[in-house]
Amino acid sequence: MEIRKVGVLGCGLMGSGIAQTCATAGMDVVVREVTSELCEKGFAGIEKSLRKFAEKGTIKPEQEAEIRGRMTGTTELKDLADCDLIVEAIIENLDLKRETYRQLDELCKPETIFASNTSSLSITEMMTSTRPERQQRFIGLHFFNPVPLMKLVEVVRTILTDEAVYDSAVEFGRQLGKTPVRADDRSGFIVNRLLVPYLLDSIRALEEGVGSIVDIDNGMKLGCGHPMGPLTLLDFVGLDTTYYIAEIMFNEFRERRFAPPPLLKRMVLAGLYGRKSGRGFYDYTADARNPTPMKLV
Ligand code: CAA
Repeated sequence: MEIRKVGVLGCGLMGSGIAQTCATAGMDVVVREVTSELCEKGFAGIEKSLRKFAEKGTIKPEQEAEIRGRMTGTTELKDLADCDLIVEAIIENLDLKRETYRQLDELCKPETIFASNTSSLSITEMMTSTRPERQQRFIGLHFFNPVPLMKLVEVVRTILTDEAVYDSAVEFGRQLGKTPVRADDRSGFIVNRLLVPYLLDSIRALEEGVGSIVDIDNGMKLGCGHPMGPLTLLDFVGLDTTYYIAEIMFNEFRERRFAPPPLLKRMVLAGLYGRKSGRGFYDYTADARNPTPMKLV
């Protein structure tokens, strides 16, 4: 099945990146946010990102307006009714996601494929909020931040996913210029199953005094060639987000490696969420490009 028109639910960091990537690949995109203010904020981010790509020559100057022109914003779910595929990237609240899917199931054409960008919630649990016919057209499409730059998409199948639908989703990932990897519906899929314990271990190493914030980061950056050290990456992903993902994974697997360390919990309680709140393992308030390490232990 060819995907020509894509619906995106949520125009936050992930939703806006997904919308931009689909429009850049030539698809028509309708983005739904709960308020028009949130929609406008998301589109402002998209325009900034497209400008950067045009300045760098990644896209031609005339493409900037062309790509922007393929995207429309709405606050109405019904405007997504004729989409071939809908990617949901709203907040990680299972009840809210289930209710949104239930409403969409009634509005959308029978062929529409439903996909969730969740990083750790169960695709199967979302799927059961829709009718049996839709359940075989339900998948996970997990993108990575920043979506326009990161080359991976995890394509997740449940035990009910139709093979042809799954293959279309893998092909859709390729059309977006991403490398799709296939994963089964287990919390965290492939990447977060490996990434989350690593990030949590870097916090444990800091708690235990193995090294300073800067030394732990430099260790992995320069010793292993990672683009960011784990504590910088935690600030980038968001400490609240990581805490939430870790809790979900710990509840699913009951293994210590997924348990959020006490320091992470204290930092989240104190509002140190990372880049988005100005402070996390580093303080970004004076100079976001040259943050200074915080005194935490
Ligand atoms: N659109 C367009 N351009 C962008 C951009 C965007 N959204 N975001 C960054 N850029 C540009 C920057 O402006 C910069 O441009 P210049 O070279 O012209 O200055 C360029 O990309 C490179 O950025 P930086 O110089 O800031 O830094 P960098 O070279 O380190 O690259 C990075 C940035 C791509 C984010 C890189 O650091 C990286 O790959 N980091 C790891 C990111 C990662 O692991 N993401 C996954 C997180 S986990 C997740 O998302 C899933 C989950 O479930 C938790």
